[in-house]
Amino acid sequence: MTVLLLQKAFDMKILICGGDGQLGSDCVQVLQETHEVFALTLNELDITSSSDVDKVIGKYVPDIILNCAAYTAVDACETEREPAWKVNVEGPKNLASWVTKYSGLLIHISSDYVFDGRKKPPEPYVEDDEPNPLSYYGRTKLEGEVAVMQTTDQYIILRPAWLYGIHGRNFLKTILKIALGNPDKKLKVVNDQFGSPTWSYRLALQIAELIEKNGRGTYHATAEGHCTWYELADHFLGKMGVPHSLIPCTSEEYPTPAIRPGNSILENKRLKKADINVMKDWSHDVDQFVSDFQEQLLNEAMKTRP
Ligand SMILES: NC(=O)c1ccc[n+]([C@@H]2O[C@H](COP(=O)([O-])OP(=O)(O)OC[C@H]3O[C@@H](n4cnc5c(N)ncnc54)[C@H](OP(=O)(O)O)[C@@H]3O)[C@@H](O)[C@H]2O)c1
Repeated sequence: MTVLLLQKAFDMKILICGGDGQLGSDCVQVLQETHEVFALTLNELDITSSSDVDKVIGKYVPDIILNCAAYTAVDACETEREPAWKVNVEGPKNLASWVTKYSGLLIHISSDYVFDGRKKPPEPYVEDDEPNPLSYYGRTKLEGEVAVMQTTDQYIILRPAWLYGIHGRNFLKTILKIALGNPDKKLKVVNDQFGSPTWSYRLALQIAELIEKNGRGTYHATAEGHCTWYELADHFLGKMGVPHSLIPCTSEEYPTPAIRPGNSILENKRLKKADINVMKDWSHDVDQFVSDFQEQLLNEAMKTRP
């Protein structure tokens, strides 16, 4: 009986915005093991509309709103500024306002791109380092954080980096598709940007831990260790057993509309201090990801390869 009561104490009603995205899907899977979860897609709730937010969330009255919704096309943000601002700044502000009006907790996902990456790798960024985004995407993610913090004190803001998972699009799936489509093609991959590739499933476990341990405030939440995009691609394709001809290159040789930080290494300082850091080394998680999904990844890539 006691055990049952203790288990019940952790049960929350959680509403996930962007519930069919890469991170949202893994959060649904992980959190529904212990909580009552409602996952809403963009069709069901557009977080940029404050009246929809009030109306739709009012039907559920959740204890926790988990915001996995975002405008995540980093390069497109440079030109699509208005929609990017609406989703990444006004959206979280609307959700924070709901929490202020009707109580609860907002868990909001931010990004490593709030930093300028000018620290010399491998020196990591910690939570109280000054943000200074280089891209418009990074700027909207920073302003989203500010909007949340100015609207409610009942928040958790998480900064992950270089997310990948089985749902949705990501760098690993793109590299796999290209390598399978043309194994002899010499593919240039950036080798002067450093970060910690973070598995969305592991991040979902970290979110569950923060909920259970009643976390509050801003946390860095990335995989342990670090690598470059080139090292990540090489490691992943090697594990997948896919032949490839990658060539390391500089950011200058691979220009993109949005400037990326050279150093995106974050330290999970606050998670470690509170002894609730469940994140693992990036290569451990890439290996686990491959071992769990190798066949599914290959099938998907074969269907869509160029
Ligand atoms: N991906 C990365 O490398 C990375 C790195 C650091 C931080 N992050 C952050 O991590 C979070 C999750 O990223 P992710 O990779 O899971 O992104 P994702 O796969 O692109 O998912 C984003 C979700 O948001 C939905 N959405 C877009 N506009 C919306 C709106 N106005 N209202 C409601 N839902 C909306 C999308 O729906 P549709 O698909 O229908 O448009 C999608 O389901 C984001 O906050 C992102 O900024 C990502």
